[in-house]
This record gives sequence, structure tokens and C-alpha cells, in this order.
Amino acid sequence: MALGLNCRCRGKFLFSRVNNPCRVGYQSSDTYNNHPSLGSQRRNCSSSDDNKPAKCKVALVTGGARGIGYHIADQLLANGAQAVIIGDVLVDECEKTCTKFNEKYGENKALFQPLDVTKKDQMDKIFKCTKDRFGKIDIVVNNAGILADKRWEDTIAINISGVVYGTLLGFQYMTAEKCGPGGFIINVSSILGLQPLYSSPVYVGTKHFGIGFSRSMGHEYFYKKSKVKVMAVCPGVTDTNMITEAAQGGLPGFGDLGKELASSLGALPAQPAEEVGKGVITMIKDGENGSVWISEGCEFYKAVLPDRKSFKPPPSPKEDPCKKKEDPCKKEEDLSKKTEDPCKKKEDPFKEKEDPCKKKDPCNDKEDPSKIYF
Ligand SMILES: NC(=O)c1ccc[n+]([C@@H]2O[C@H](COP(=O)([O-])OP(=O)(O)OC[C@H]3O[C@@H](n4cnc5c(N)ncnc54)[C@H](O)[C@@H]3O)[C@@H](O)[C@H]2O)c1
Repeated sequence: MALGLNCRCRGKFLFSRVNNPCRVGYQSSDTYNNHPSLGSQRRNCSSSDDNKPAKCKVALVTGGARGIGYHIADQLLANGAQAVIIGDVLVDECEKTCTKFNEKYGENKALFQPLDVTKKDQMDKIFKCTKDRFGKIDIVVNNAGILADKRWEDTIAINISGVVYGTLLGFQYMTAEKCGPGGFIINVSSILGLQPLYSSPVYVGTKHFGIGFSRSMGHEYFYKKSKVKVMAVCPGVTDTNMITEAAQGGLPGFGDLGKELASSLGALPAQPAEEVGKGVITMIKDGENGSVWISEGCEFYKAVLPDRKSFKPPPSPKEDPCKKKEDPCKKEEDLSKKTEDPCKKKEDPFKEKEDPCKKKDPCNDKEDPSKIYF
């Protein structure tokens, strides 16, 4: 079911400012009462999913029509989510996915909105519609991504700008100080965000961005006011269309890099995409703010990244790093006292110079003095 392109806020929000400026009440209107499915979505969700990590959460998943995003949405619903909203460019696939989820988990559990993550107005709209419809957003998964250095501008726009839009909007809608519920932002990076790979340099660069950005936004500075945790997940090779289509997307001008990429990815066993979905549930349950997780070969674990200060301690802030330290053993040279070494032999001007054209035996560097040359 589509989330609704002309989504409007039905009913009126009442802000109770007496005790808690963030408490939001909901006043029923006729539209609201005549809309049973929407009514049930506005009410508190049931306590039957008591210990499930995503209980009563409203989650937004970009690129969730298929692949890893599909399985993240599936796991969120299986773990008690009140609803999952999928945003993707593949509208037909979105429709099929939501139908499947609604058959499996119940009516209106999954909704979609056509979305291109590179378009700021479309990103604004999906966040606003979700908030209007459910009253809150608890989890944002910035999953949409492409592996196609051939389209390197799109790769940067989708894998970087899309993630930044999604993260900033996540803070805008979830920040506790702005009456949001707090929440989680999960950015889908890659193991290629942790290592170089010559056959896909642009994709690799965008996935490194995802890690640096998530670790930085996952700092206490942002969490204190927002109660929003930001984390990154790095899938290893996972069985999705992205892997099967990798060969067609090589960076042009350097031979067939697509083929090189496909063969290096193909050499590794591909895990099922469900593994990443399950991992995201672990992150929601146990993940620390700013943490980075790896999902590879059906294993899920937290990445312990080296502190760059462990390579070499950085200079202390007050020290001038360019001032060379003096060698206490080096004696100062008095240039005025410098005289010529009387023992140094002068070159004999009559000494015969070596004939540069004389051929030497390259295999015999010790010349045999007994050998006669003609
Ligand atoms: N499959 C892997 O081995 C693997 C490994 C590491 C990381 N990842 C990452 O996982 C994420 C999901 O990839 P996947 O493997 O499921 O691939 P996929 O191609 O199956 O899914 C990607 C989804 O993103 C959507 N999408 C693409 N551009 C979009 C846009 N502009 N706006 C909205 N949606 C858009 C696609 O339509 C698709 O549904 C990506 O960020 C990818 O980089 C995948």
C-alpha cells in the first residue's frame, strides 16, 4: 500500500504544555474515526510483542524494495515494528514487497512511497508523510545504494548525499529536544568501507564516507540533545542483484574493471541478505552510539577500528611540530675554522680516463687480469 503522495495530516495535534512540552495528544476528527486502519496506527501498539527489540517502532527504510533493505524491513516487522515505510525508485517492486509483508504481518504494516534518495524534496516528503501518518519516526535505515562506478556521479549522489539527507532528516524528526522520541539511524556501508579495492574505487570511497560520517554523527555531542544513536553496518558479499550486476558497472577508461570486480566478488561466498537484517536487530538491541558492525559470512560482530594515534602519537597541541629537535651529541661546526685537508690527494690531471665505450662482461664483475684483450 502506498503511503500516499498527497498525504495530509488527518485530525489535529494538541500540544499539552502543562507538564511536558513534548507530550503530544491526538484529537479525533471525523476523518480519523472513519478511517479504521489509520485509527489503529495512531493508537498505542499492542503489548503482545513485549520483548521484541523493534516493538512499536515506526521505521523508514530506503532502498527497501528488494535485497538487503527488504530483509531489514522484514526483520523489523518480525521483531515487533508497528510499521515499516519503504522508499525506493522501484515502484512495482515496492508494491509487491508491501503486499507480501502485509500478508505475513497484517494489514498496513508495510507502506511505501516512491523515492529517489538524491532528491531532497522527495526525502522531505517521505519523512513528513510518515510523521503525519504515525505521529513519530523511531528508526531510519539509510540503505539505498548502487555499485556502479560507471555512473560515478550517481554513485556519489546516492551513496553519500542520500545518506546525509536521511541522517539529517532523521535528527530533525527524532530529536528528543524537538519533541521527537529519540531513535536509531542505521547507515548501510560495506566491508569495502574498511579496505581499498582497485576495481571499484568510487564505490569504495563512498562506503568509507559512510563509516566516517556515522562515527562522527554517532558522537555524544549529538546524542546528548537528540537521544538518537547513529551506527553503520558493513555487509560482506551478500546475495543480491548488486552482486549479480557488478560486472556491468566498471569505471570506464581502465580496461574491464567491471569484470575484475565481478571476479573478485565472485571468489567470495555470498551470504543470504537475511543475515544483514538480523544483524540490524542486534544493533538496535545492543549497539552503542557511533559503533560499526560487520555482517560477513553469516557472522555478525562489532568492528574494533584502530585509533590512528596508535600508529604514532600525534604532537602535543602546544609544540611546534616543524621545529626540528636538536641532536645533543652534534657539535656545532665553526665554519670560519674550516681548512683544507692536507692529506686529501689531488686528482692527477694526466691519469688516463676510462674509455666509456670499453665493453665489460656483464656476467663477470671481477675482471681476470690474466685475460688478454685484443
Ligand atoms: N550485496 C552486497 O554484497 C553488499 C555488500 C556491502 C554493502 N551493500 C550495500 O547494501 C545496500 C543495499 O544493496 P543490495 O545489495 O541490497 O542491492 P540491491 O540492488 O538489491 O538493492 C538496492 C536498492 O536500493 C534502491 N535504490 C537504488 N538507487 C536508489 C535511489 N536513488 N533512491 C532510492 N532507492 C534506490 C534499488 O532500487 C534497490 O531496491 C547498498 O547500500 C549496498 O551498497 C551490499
